[in-house]
Amino acid sequence: MEQVAGKVAFVTGAASGLGLAMARSFAGAGMKVALADIEEDALERAHASFEADNADTIALPLDVTDRDAMAEAADRTEAAFGKVHVLCNNAGVGIAASFSDHAYEDWDWVLGVNLRGVINGVTTFVPRIAAHGEGGHVVNTASMAGFLAFGTAGVYNTTKFAVLGMSEAMRADLADQDIGVSVLCPGFVNTNIFQSGRNRPDALSVGTDNSSMDLDDPSDTQVDPETREAMLAGMIEPGVVGDMVLHAVRRNEAFIFSHPDFEPFVDMRHAEMVASFERWRAYREKHGI
Ligand SMILES: NC(=O)c1ccc[n+]([C@@H]2O[C@H](COP(=O)([O-])OP(=O)(O)OC[C@H]3O[C@@H](n4cnc5c(N)ncnc54)[C@H](O)[C@@H]3O)[C@@H](O)[C@H]2O)c1
Repeated sequence: MEQVAGKVAFVTGAASGLGLAMARSFAGAGMKVALADIEEDALERAHASFEADNADTIALPLDVTDRDAMAEAADRTEAAFGKVHVLCNNAGVGIAASFSDHAYEDWDWVLGVNLRGVINGVTTFVPRIAAHGEGGHVVNTASMAGFLAFGTAGVYNTTKFAVLGMSEAMRADLADQDIGVSVLCPGFVNTNIFQSGRNRPDALSVGTDNSSMDLDDPSDTQVDPETREAMLAGMIEPGVVGDMVLHAVRRNEAFIFSHPDFEPFVDMRHAEMVASFERWRAYREKHGI
């Protein structure tokens, strides 16, 4: 979608971090933006900052896990702006614990937002984008955690691997309907993701309670000092990534790899798989299969 000025974007998780950054980059390029988020105060503050810049935006309180609310948000966006061209399924939450400690509520919360929220966005908006025939683009926010599994990020990894696979399948499927698809795969970005627990519903609050860590506070024991240092060292600001997302929409880039420092780890994973294929090839030869 080379020409974005005047087009309409719908962004989830737009009150903070990466979603807010995408919305700013889109508005800066002359797009109209629907800002959707569960955190109403933050959403209002974000919206006010756009109004101060005279950007064409609307604010929509939305829990992405609620299918009816997603459809209502789509209706309200179309009522305000006519159509949606760019959908950013970005709202997400993080949690870290061992599989031996997780409760079902941990799974339900994180899968609900990070995976079912994306499914709800796609199922609601993609038919509407296809129907208006002007072309469009979908950006799904995964993570480097969609490629690299970290021991205590297993629930989060599960959702991000799924969003990655879903995005690749969507890209192949939707190309002939003139809908591009990009998957955003950042490393560490300076956002509020480490305080995800602030939006955890009471009904799902049983289980792991470590989704609110303070990386800037060395006395916070939820992350070991070495990991904290590595995370902070590679951290970039969300605005940089927002501009990359805009670039990817314009160029229909399949992947948005904002953190090249992760490439060697992806290579290592790939090398492990290649070596495994070799061992199984040898196994089949040995057994005459
Ligand atoms: N920050 C990072 O280092 C990083 C790295 C890789 C991927 N990501 C991904 O980026 C995306 C955005 O996260 P962020 O880092 O900007 O964090 P953030 O906490 O700053 O922003 C996430 C936004 O999602 C909203 N949200 C949470 N639950 C919601 C729900 N049920 N419905 C609607 N909105 C909801 C929050 O209110 C918040 O505004 C997430 O999908 C996250 O997994 C972040």
